[in-house]
Amino acid sequence: MPIAMRPAQRYAVQSVLIHGPQRTRGLSYQHGIHPPVVQSNTYRLESSARGHQAFCEFGSVEVEQGDNAPKLIYERLTSPNKVLLQDQLVTMENGFSARVFATGMGAINAGLFTVLDARRGHTMIADTMLYGCTFSLCQRGLPKRGITVNPVNTSDLNSLIEVITRKDDKTRVIYFESPANPALRLTDMLALRNIVDDVNKNRDPQDQIILILDSTFATPYSQNPLNLGIDILIHSLTKNLNGFGTRMGGAVIINDQERFLTELDMELKDGGAVMLDQVAWDFLTYSIPTFIPRMRQKTETAMRLARFLEEHPQVGKGNVVFPGLESFPQYELAQKQMSNGLARKFAPGDMIYFQLKRKQDESREAYLTRTAFFLDSIADDSYAVTLGVSLGLWKTMIESPALMTHSSYTEDQLIQSGFLPGGMRLAPGGEDPKDIESDLDDGLEKAA
Ligand SMILES: Cc1ncc(COP(=O)(O)O)c(C=O)c1O
Repeated sequence: MPIAMRPAQRYAVQSVLIHGPQRTRGLSYQHGIHPPVVQSNTYRLESSARGHQAFCEFGSVEVEQGDNAPKLIYERLTSPNKVLLQDQLVTMENGFSARVFATGMGAINAGLFTVLDARRGHTMIADTMLYGCTFSLCQRGLPKRGITVNPVNTSDLNSLIEVITRKDDKTRVIYFESPANPALRLTDMLALRNIVDDVNKNRDPQDQIILILDSTFATPYSQNPLNLGIDILIHSLTKNLNGFGTRMGGAVIINDQERFLTELDMELKDGGAVMLDQVAWDFLTYSIPTFIPRMRQKTETAMRLARFLEEHPQVGKGNVVFPGLESFPQYELAQKQMSNGLARKFAPGDMIYFQLKRKQDESREAYLTRTAFFLDSIADDSYAVTLGVSLGLWKTMIESPALMTHSSYTEDQLIQSGFLPGGMRLAPGGEDPKDIESDLDDGLEKAA
């Protein structure tokens, strides 16, 4: 079957994620029901001329768009299992090209430097609420490489307009997460696209503003941001796209190959944060085929747990943040924006952010001690809920962002960025929801 005849045109995405294209440029596997893992990091070249041509062709849009196999040279540049995985991610996100990386942070770095160029004086706007290591990259790694990062709440479009319409503004990238980790704030992507299009009309193409979104929390089940005007889309594959807490990975997905592909490939090749073929094979064999049913179940469980917490006397309304709740401050935007993914209906995600109900006159210190006590009792006594920092596993995870994943924020920064003082992040897994509720209830009663 030629690659141009993708079965996606005839079969539902859920089926395509199980069977894949069954053949990809550079690897045909008609005899197995799974592709082989390619165990060679180096490929035989039939002549020095062909080897030379392969290097010259690397990163070329013509090769990406053509029917011929990209020449395999060396695993860091490209390899068959990764090409298969990239094809699946393109299908899931409705993009044109994807590149996979060793980790989400590897993908973020590559995505950013696909367009940022300190020699052109580029600066970047980063949302004030970001995953802790991305925040730390904005605080130290990017400035060290000559990129000034301006923190702006990207959900507040007026503040953004104020910065990017300044006469001397050099913003090259607006970087954000939606929903943002951990407090699930959304940014209206279609509105932002319109604003940026207007500003870009007056800018040199090399300096136009590029929208980069980390869509890890939403996953392609809830939203396909390339359809909402995002230029460069990033995922940590370590989370729901892996689904089991077994492998790490990251992805950058684009639909404008002419503008981004070559530089993205250079960042992959020269940055070196590449995914191993064995890892790509695990994603292809276990993670991607089970993605839709996993997310279907988790979205339902999250909805149920959010309501359970809202009704719990130790938590209650006003202390639970979940885009599927009517009490979510951006509920209307959530319904609009998180309905265009693979679920084909409103899918508010699987992440919940909540805090304990604060007692009358309870000091901040006592309140935070009680929150830590709740988490410790989960660590000690819970079977179905695990204290740990990741999310997107098939086991339910809970953590305190302020104490753990977001400890790169100072206390002032946490408050200014809209974190809840005792906020906890709950990432449901595949357990029976009654068991998750019962373990949470035990911990909450102990911490009452
Ligand atoms: C929203 C978000 N983006 C990026 C990352 C980084 O991904 P990785 O751990 O795969 O490098 C994380 C990790 O928790 C995350 O939550």
